[in-house]
Amino acid sequence: MGEETCKPRKRKMKGIILAGGTATRLFPMTATTSKQLLPVYDRQMIFYPLNTLIKAGIKDILVIVAPEHSGQFLNLLGSLLKKHDIHISFEVQSLPKGLAEAFVLGRNHVGDDNVALILGDNIFENDFSEQIKAFRSGGHVFAKKVSDPERFGVVRFNKDNRAMEIVEKPENWISDFAVTGLYLYDNRVLDIAKKMKPSLRGEYEITDVNKQYLKMKELQVTIFDGEWLDAGTPDSLLEASIIVKEKGISRNFHPILEEAIIEFNAELKRRSKMLKNDQTK
Ligand code: TTP
Repeated sequence: MGEETCKPRKRKMKGIILAGGTATRLFPMTATTSKQLLPVYDRQMIFYPLNTLIKAGIKDILVIVAPEHSGQFLNLLGSLLKKHDIHISFEVQSLPKGLAEAFVLGRNHVGDDNVALILGDNIFENDFSEQIKAFRSGGHVFAKKVSDPERFGVVRFNKDNRAMEIVEKPENWISDFAVTGLYLYDNRVLDIAKKMKPSLRGEYEITDVNKQYLKMKELQVTIFDGEWLDAGTPDSLLEASIIVKEKGISRNFHPILEEAIIEFNAELKRRSKMLKNDQTK
């Protein structure tokens, strides 16, 4: 009898955008709306991380939001990409308990697949679609040289550029390379996150997830040079708008996203015209 070859199913890549948080550094602007819905030049901030995922061909995206802003996210993104065969769903994070909670809240969404997590306030000039499409297993994160490493999860490399150590907000300098807000993991991240304990500051730390993959010798860290904008303070928000304009980052969205935004604008215009007509009757 011929032996049946049973190939393991190739796992898909699901997307998660983490767009909750309290955005205290942007008070009072974020008293009335979410940080990720504030404009960066001519687009809402969330479109930039959304673009990163769409460019990589990801079709299933979960947006994790704070309860007080869920309606606004639904209005903007709820049906934006439906006809383009990209499915956006939402999950509420009741309290900002840390980045790694994304894999607890997103467990059903990820299912048996791999996952790309991106922070809702991170804007990348680079196109990471090749790395995202090529991802198969382990973890893959992206590091960038910064002048203030003490604010980030920091990675130390050996002389062959192999990641040796990752420390969250190191008090003593270990390296200038910050781990940025795009993280690729295989399905094991769901179990890693499930077993996690909160850190001393009370958060489920993404750095602890990275440390686990590092310990298993399965964490790839790619250093990149392009712009990385973390639009979390008034100054960095302003700087992000200027750089996005100068470098044409919002002019360079994936055609599917650009088309969807143009349709959304046209619909808004149609609605405002109807409203005006009603008022003049
Ligand atoms: P942060 O900038 O670390 O936190 P924050 O947005 O609440 O801002 P602040 O420090 O000014 O109070 O968060 C980085 C990104 O991750 C941002 O897009 C918000 C998101 N986030 C969540 O969605 N849930 C969380 O539990 C945390 C900690 C962050």
